[in-house]
Amino acid sequence: MAPSHITLTLFLFIVAVCASEDIKVTRNTYTGFRPTKLFVFGDSYSDTGNNPKSLASSWKTPYGFTFPGKPAGRYSDGRVLTDYVARFMGIKSPLPYRVTKYAPSKLRAGINFAFGGTGVFDTGNFQPNLTTQIGYLQGLIKDSVYTKRDLKSSLAMVTVSGNDYSAFTASGGSQQNLPAFITSVVNQMTIDLKRIHDLGIPRVLVNTLQPVGCLPQLTVLSAYQQCNQTQNSLASFHNQLLQLALTTLNNNTKKSTFLPLDLFTSFNTVLKNKGDITGNLKFDTPLKPCCTATTSTASCGSLDENGKPLYTVCSEPESMFFWDTVHPTQAGWRAVRDSTDGMTDLDDMDDIEMIMQQLQSEQEQQQAAERVHRRNYIYRERFDAEEHLMADYSFKTLLLKPINMSDSTDGMTDLDDMDDTEMIMQQLHSEQEQQEAAERVHRRNISTIVNVSMLKNI
Ligand SMILES: *[C@@H]1O[C@H](CO)[C@@H](O)[C@H](O)[C@H]1NC(C)=O
Ligand SMILES: *[C@@H]1O[C@H](CO)[C@@H](O)[C@H](O)[C@H]1NC(C)=O
Ligand SMILES: *[C@@H]1O[C@H](CO)[C@@H](O)[C@H](O)[C@H]1NC(C)=O
Ligand SMILES: *[C@@H]1O[C@H](CO)[C@@H](O)[C@H](O)[C@H]1NC(C)=O
Ligand SMILES: *[C@@H]1O[C@H](CO)[C@@H](O)[C@H](O)[C@H]1NC(C)=O
Ligand SMILES: *[C@@H]1O[C@H](CO)[C@@H](O)[C@H](O)[C@H]1NC(C)=O
Repeated sequence: MAPSHITLTLFLFIVAVCASEDIKVTRNTYTGFRPTKLFVFGDSYSDTGNNPKSLASSWKTPYGFTFPGKPAGRYSDGRVLTDYVARFMGIKSPLPYRVTKYAPSKLRAGINFAFGGTGVFDTGNFQPNLTTQIGYLQGLIKDSVYTKRDLKSSLAMVTVSGNDYSAFTASGGSQQNLPAFITSVVNQMTIDLKRIHDLGIPRVLVNTLQPVGCLPQLTVLSAYQQCNQTQNSLASFHNQLLQLALTTLNNNTKKSTFLPLDLFTSFNTVLKNKGDITGNLKFDTPLKPCCTATTSTASCGSLDENGKPLYTVCSEPESMFFWDTVHPTQAGWRAVRDSTDGMTDLDDMDDIEMIMQQLQSEQEQQQAAERVHRRNYIYRERFDAEEHLMADYSFKTLLLKPINMSDSTDGMTDLDDMDDTEMIMQQLHSEQEQQEAAERVHRRNISTIVNVSMLKNI
């Protein structure tokens, strides 16, 4: 046991020394650079709908409850970090990569390549790791979807929020090997960040690891009262290595090319706020999540075999920082934005583009159905009606002001209509259903092999 004790002591010493040196926030580093495209890589802190419905909690009720009113692929009750960063840049939230092939004309704002649950290394959920995600963009550049000039006016955002570490622990990685593993994660991040820049993107934003010991999955042990400081030290260690890596990378490019988006400080500012800062940054029970499972094996969105929820949802997601065991609510992300210097003064989001996105994923289903039932007359009629609906939204996007976020009935009425379409689709979807059933079996298979906690990843 002695060697492990020495390693941990040394490790904590490094953390203590490093902790005194604050990681700089991104304020003012944008001066003179006005990107018009956003390319997003990473995990569920930035995913806006890439994971398949059959695998992801983000497509289950009550996800998307606040926005857009039903599950739409975001790991929150509403908007996530990506949406706020896009808004900060004054552009639309980029479409998820998965739906871009159905909307080739909608790539002007960039593309979101982030998949919930992923890490820089494989995390055991068979979704594309960071290397693969960057490869997707590289492929599009090769196919001339984006020019060198497009890339020059782009910003990249990368979120790495800890899935590598939960996978490491779940696969039996030991505490004493963790510092070495953290080092290898940051080394791989360094390679990935440099590769993104080498594709021709002049600025690369990357998150510092949030205080992982404050996530509800750990604070549940203290009835949501206490953060786990050991875990937070691990986050600090990751962040110190990351800061060193960014300094070296920037020294090599002779510019502030690589910028930290300091989630560690932002989360802490909000979570430690005892009311001295009011407004958006004040949460009465900041460590307690809104959506909580009612059994130990369930998670937010789980149903029992009779379809009854195995979770409860708080009455006001607006007043909670955390949504589920690891993800902030929309209000949480907004607070993070407001506590991050350089991401201020953002008004209500543009609902229309999100609805567009929702429609596009519906369209994706329709196109799959169309392939199977090419001759189905009734379906054809539905499809035509849908095209009209989409044209209508494009029109609104051009002519109307953004809809007030808290007054969402306008778009929601049309989304309700979509529910009928979805039901019809499901009847038609023999092909897709079979695939999804297979994926469900596959998922069950995975969870018997690896620890289930890996599937509740960030
Ligand atoms: C990422 O995934 C690809 C494809 O599965 C794999 O070949 C590669 O080794 C992975 N990269 C890392 C850094 O884990
Ligand atoms: C904090 O997390 C560590 C695992 O990293 C665990 O061993 C320890 O028991 C936790 N501490 C508390 C107080 O929950
Ligand atoms: C920065 O780069 C120069 C060479 O371009 C090198 O001499 C110097 O040691 C580097 N500094 C750091 C802190 O890496
Ligand atoms: C948005 O709508 C809510 C409720 O309808 C209202 O209280 C709020 O003032 C509106 N905000 C704006 C910016 O119009
Ligand atoms: C699940 O595992 C069973 C046997 O363990 C195997 O026959 C089946 O093909 C697996 N299904 C998938 C989708 O991997
Ligand atoms: C799975 O994770 C749980 C909770 O994190 C832990 O108690 C259990 O020992 C783990 N099982 C394996 C096989 O790693």
